Parts: sequence; structure tokens; C-alpha cells
Amino acid sequence: MAGPSRRDFVVGAGAAALAPTGASAAQTLGEQAARSGLLFGAAIDNVPGLDPAMARLFARETRILVTENALKFDYLRPSAERFEFAGADAIAAFAAANGQQLRGHTLVWNDNAPDWLKRRPRREVERIFDEHLDRVAERYAGRLHSWDVVNEPFWPMQGKPGGFRDGPWFAAMGPSYISRAFRRVAAIDKTAKLTLNEAFCETNHEWGRGIRPRFRDLVSRLQDEGVPLHAVGFQSHLLPHWPYDDADFAAYVAEFGARGLEVYITELDVNDEVYPASIPERDRLVARRYTDFLTAVLAVPAVKIVMTWQLSDRASWWRDVHRRAGRPDARLPRPLPFDDMLRPKAAYEAMGAALGSAPLRR
Ligand code: G3I
Repeated sequence: MAGPSRRDFVVGAGAAALAPTGASAAQTLGEQAARSGLLFGAAIDNVPGLDPAMARLFARETRILVTENALKFDYLRPSAERFEFAGADAIAAFAAANGQQLRGHTLVWNDNAPDWLKRRPRREVERIFDEHLDRVAERYAGRLHSWDVVNEPFWPMQGKPGGFRDGPWFAAMGPSYISRAFRRVAAIDKTAKLTLNEAFCETNHEWGRGIRPRFRDLVSRLQDEGVPLHAVGFQSHLLPHWPYDDADFAAYVAEFGARGLEVYITELDVNDEVYPASIPERDRLVARRYTDFLTAVLAVPAVKIVMTWQLSDRASWWRDVHRRAGRPDARLPRPLPFDDMLRPKAAYEAMGAALGSAPLRR
């Protein structure tokens, strides 16, 4: 058998650089979470384009993955005639090869609809809606831990009736698109936990205060109507410069547990734009934000999963936001547990400690 190649040594060296500082190499985030009966994972994208060190990082640190973009309508449907499953299939294969579970994000979202859909008449949109759900749910039936069946049902800032998020699905079917989606997917996939995913609920900002009661009432209505809803997801893109009260949010989260629902922290990261320019100070404050938020929310037994939105700063969506806003590269966002060189940061230690010391889930 041939000895290790130069590439193995290079990757090996990379892997060695990945060994977390402080905690022993055995205490990955996935293992820390497992000690408390939690699943830790992260969003992943473009698996074929991952460098080997990044692929190793996901394989080592996460027990569950979520498709950052590959299962969104605009990704899957470059045209009315085409379904583009390659990206999602590559992620599913990566998860299977690494013994990881997989969340699908997201079957129905009123944002980011492709232009060809926006031009279709209402009756056509309903047919496309049903066809999309059937085709995608059938392809991955039995293979997913859970689906974000509907993402961001509310966006009161648009002023639509009931504060619902506007878009092609809402315009064609009103709020009924939500229960229609859950019922249709449940008829096809008997094992995925069907999840309603929402943004901003973790803030006390007027957007969060506007969405939380509406989201609670929607969940209550769906349950009263016997709609197959198994879990709720709270994105948790933490914004330290917006009002927040972690204890208040934990109490809100506990209400969904009391309704028999599982709760997932689905897109966790920390926006550090208001923190000082000093990287050590910024990293310390990001780590502190993770500690405070996770300590509060993991006290709620219904919280079963914590997922960050990517693992390394260099892949964070906040980098796109930062660059689109024309902000300086000297102040690139550092929202995640690993830096651009895939080295663990203070946030890594903070998250590991919070995950590992959380109350044991039954
Ligand atoms: O892959 C193409 C690339 O080929 C092309 O050259 C480039 C040109 O702009 O676009 C690339 O696709 C972009 C993709 O991110 C990958 O970088 C899309 O334009 C861009 O719209 C897409 O943004 C994603 C965004 O959702 C919209 O779908 C972000 O990656 C993703 O992190 C973000 O995630 C959302 C969640 O789904 C819902 N919650 C909020 C969260 C953050 O916005």
C-alpha cells in the first residue's frame, strides 16, 4: 500500500492546525453537545468546492448539517423546466459519508424567488408550488432529519395583512400556503421533522416584538387545525447592537416546548460590527455573546439542536453583507467559532463550554 502522499501531509498539517486550543482534541463542538444530549451542526454550501481542511473541519466538528442554499427554490429551479439537485445531492452524500444527519433548508420562502416565477399568474404559481414540494420532498424522503418547510412566514415591515411576508406564494395563496405546504410534505416524507423557521424572535427590537406574538399565534392555529408541525426553528443571527433579553427569549422558546414541539437554534452567529476594532477584544465579546445566549436558551429542555450558519468566518454570509455595504476589508466580520485560517477562536471555547454544560436532554 502506497505511503502517505505529500497532499496527505499537507492536509494532515492543516488538520493539526485545526486541533482546538485549550480543550482536548476529543472535545469537538459535536462531542460537547452530545454530552448534553444535544446535536451541534452548521450550515454548509458548495461541497465540491470545499478545500480539504474545511471539509475535515465540518466532518470533525458537526453531527448534523443544513443546506445553506442548495435546497432553496432559486437554487433548485434555475428555470421552470429544470431541477438542479447536484448541490444538494453533494451535501447529502457528504453527510452520509461522515455519519452526519441533514436538515433541509428551505422548501418554501417568499424571498429570493426567481424572476421566471414572479411572472407567472396565480393559478400557475399554485401548480408550481405543489409540483415543487412533491418533487423535492419525494427525492429526499426518509433521508433528512428535518425540513424547514416554511422559512420566515412573517415580515411585518412590509405592511401586508397579518404581518405576513410578501412574495409569490403569499400573493397567490395568502397565509394558507403555510398549512398547504406542511400537509403536502407530510403526505410524502413520513420521517423528517417538519419545522417552521423564523427570524428576529431572539431580539427585543420592534421587528422581534412584532413577529413573536404573530409567530406564536400562527403555531397555535396550525396545531389547532391538526397541521403536521413537529418543530420550530429560531434563526438567532445575534445582533448585539439591537435590544435583546436572553431570559425573555428563553421564556418565549419554552412556550413552544410546552406545546410539545422541538426547538432548533437554526442559524446561529454573532454580528460583531459594533464591537471594537481590536480582534482579540472583538473575539472576546463575540464569545461572551455566545456564552450568554446559549446558557439562557439551553436551559430550555425543548431545545434539541444548535446550528451555526457556517463554521468559519471566511464563509459567513455577514462577509457578503459587509462587502455589499462597501465596508473596509480591515474590519471583516468575525461571527463564527473558526477564523479564516480555520483556527478555533474564543467563540469555540465559549460554545463548547455552553454546549457541554447544558442540562442533559432526555
Ligand atoms: O453561487 C452564486 C455564484 O455562482 C455567483 O457568482 C454569485 C454572484 O452574486 O452568487 C452566488 O450565489 C449567492 C449565494 O448566496 C452563494 O454565495 C447568491 O447570489 C446569494 O443570494 C446567496 O445568499 C444567501 C442568502 O441566504 C439568500 O439565499 C446566503 O449565502 C445565505 O447565507 C443566506 O441565508 C439566509 C437563510 O437562508 C435564511 N435566514 C437568513 C440567512 C442570511 O440571510
